[in-house]
Amino acid sequence: MINIALLGYGTVGSGFYEILKNNKNKLENIVKEKINLKHILIQDLTKKRENLADKSILTDDFNKILMDPEVDIVVELIGGEQAAYQYIKESLVKNKIVITANKLLIAKHYNQLMTLAEHNDTHIYFEASVAGGIPIIKAIRDHLAGDNIQEIDAILNGTTNYILSIMEEKTISMKETIQEAQELGYAEQDPEEDLGGYDVLYKICILANLAFDISVNPEDIPCKGIKGITSYDLIYASELGYKIKLIASIKNINNKINIGVRPNLVEKGEYLASIDGVFNGIEVFSQYSQKLSFDGMGAGKYPSANAVISDLIEAAKTIKENKTKLELNPLEKTPTFDLHAY
Ligand code: NDP
Ligand code: HSE
Repeated sequence: MINIALLGYGTVGSGFYEILKNNKNKLENIVKEKINLKHILIQDLTKKRENLADKSILTDDFNKILMDPEVDIVVELIGGEQAAYQYIKESLVKNKIVITANKLLIAKHYNQLMTLAEHNDTHIYFEASVAGGIPIIKAIRDHLAGDNIQEIDAILNGTTNYILSIMEEKTISMKETIQEAQELGYAEQDPEEDLGGYDVLYKICILANLAFDISVNPEDIPCKGIKGITSYDLIYASELGYKIKLIASIKNINNKINIGVRPNLVEKGEYLASIDGVFNGIEVFSQYSQKLSFDGMGAGKYPSANAVISDLIEAAKTIKENKTKLELNPLEKTPTFDLHAY
């Protein structure tokens, strides 16, 4: 039996719960083990929870999860920085596998979290942190492992792409469209993260670290969001044959990595100009594959939760392998590492 603790029952957390519940047999057949969702951490125990069958698994006490030795996997979907960082670190130190959609944390603390996981003989997975439902982390980490990536150009934020598309369709203020994006569950808790370009900044930082094996921090990357763009800008650009898109790019120019986030004029007919609404689009140029394009829902409940489920499968397979190893060599002991070193 694989026991899971889910942190957060908001947009992505409730989507994860539903997909897990609706596909339990199929997923258990894939990992060849029973999967049990044992705890769900939330803030407000009085809030009405749609579709939640068993309310007894709700808790507002993270220690209950941390101290439960049966919990194998902690799925962090609360967002934000401080509490999430603390919970993830404490879970890793207890040798639990962590899955997260938290791009801010992965971008800002990539090296610390990877090292902490490695020293505690566990793993951290983060497919949903970049581009929602598009499996770009696995594509870069696994599929392109033997290739040399030269350039990535991408639309990585569903909220701002949705807002720009609506503002181009009808003359409407940015303020009016933000609320819509929030109601649809696309926007961050603080929509400034989306509008100011910071969400994209975290995502491109994660891709840069993975694709180029570098250690870049978000504060080192120039970033400009979409604030100040009006419907008229979008309409005039369209008349001239362009779309305005919030583009993140990474380019390797003579072994110097250039990274940036800013609104760009993209000529109609180019691939990224065709990515509208909540969709994200990513173009990867590399030595052997030459050009790969990915597009799909970049935000929202089910696409993002589906990416978390894909990490769950990987995590569950790792647990199964470790159990088999331990059965073959019962004297092998899991090492632990001191949290205070981080
Ligand atoms: P929501 O705001 O919808 O949900 C957050 C959930 O976490 C709520 O259930 C809330 O509890 C709980 N929570 C928040 N803080 C705490 C805390 N300190 N202790 C315990 N529980 C807490 O967030 P989303 O689902 O939209 O986002 C979650 C993460 O996924 C973020 O990192 C986000 O960036 C990322 N993400 C989001 C996507 C999207 O489309 N929304 C797509 C891809 C990634 P309560 O219900 O009691 O308020
Ligand atoms: N707010 C983010 C977006 C969520 O709109 O893309 C997905 O990471």
